[in-house]
Amino acid sequence: MTGKTEKLLSILKLQPVVPVLIVDDAKSAVGLARALVAGGLKAIEITMRTPAALDAVRAVADEVEGANVGAGTILNARDYEAAVKAGSTFIVSPGVTPGVLSAAKDSPVPLLPGAATASEVMTLREAGYEVLKFFPAEQAGCAAYLKALSSPLAGTLFCPTGGISLKNANDYLSLPNVICVGGSWVAPKDLVSAGDWAAITKLASEAAALKA
Ligand code: 3PG
Repeated sequence: MTGKTEKLLSILKLQPVVPVLIVDDAKSAVGLARALVAGGLKAIEITMRTPAALDAVRAVADEVEGANVGAGTILNARDYEAAVKAGSTFIVSPGVTPGVLSAAKDSPVPLLPGAATASEVMTLREAGYEVLKFFPAEQAGCAAYLKALSSPLAGTLFCPTGGISLKNANDYLSLPNVICVGGSWVAPKDLVSAGDWAAITKLASEAAALKA
């Protein structure tokens, strides 16, 4: 296992659930990240889907003690590099391109690349990846699909994401090839807009109590 994979694993092993955030303003990202960390979720993925996302990564990296902030929805090399510059400690992509893989190779910051089929997993294994995001988990085939990959593709670990909530997280977390799951349910839009950090800490605590 490479040093970068070990680094990625040590971040993903911090908790059973990685919050996946879409943030509209960098300021509220700090309060939100503090609330998640207080509930026990230290590794946080901020998706690059809003104009505020890079500033949010920067703010959380600088201001939130105990947080391990990563950048998600990385679709190209330029965004990979910008996310690393902003302070991301890990990078997540829904799938891969040659450009993303080449940026990952050149960077000290590890990539959690997305895959949804046996061929995608095999291609990423050939490129040296042992830890992948299974995306979109529920839509691609749920936990049963991922379970079916565990024997032929033994040795690959997954962080399933997409359609996961407190209700079905255990279906994934109980699989031998799952290290943690990702999900946005711990940061619902209405609670974030209202700045209800206590409610978010409660959701984070429930998620943190799941068994990885
Ligand atoms: C995403 O990238 O949107 C994640 O997969 C989050 O999915 P979710 O909102 O269904 O948890």
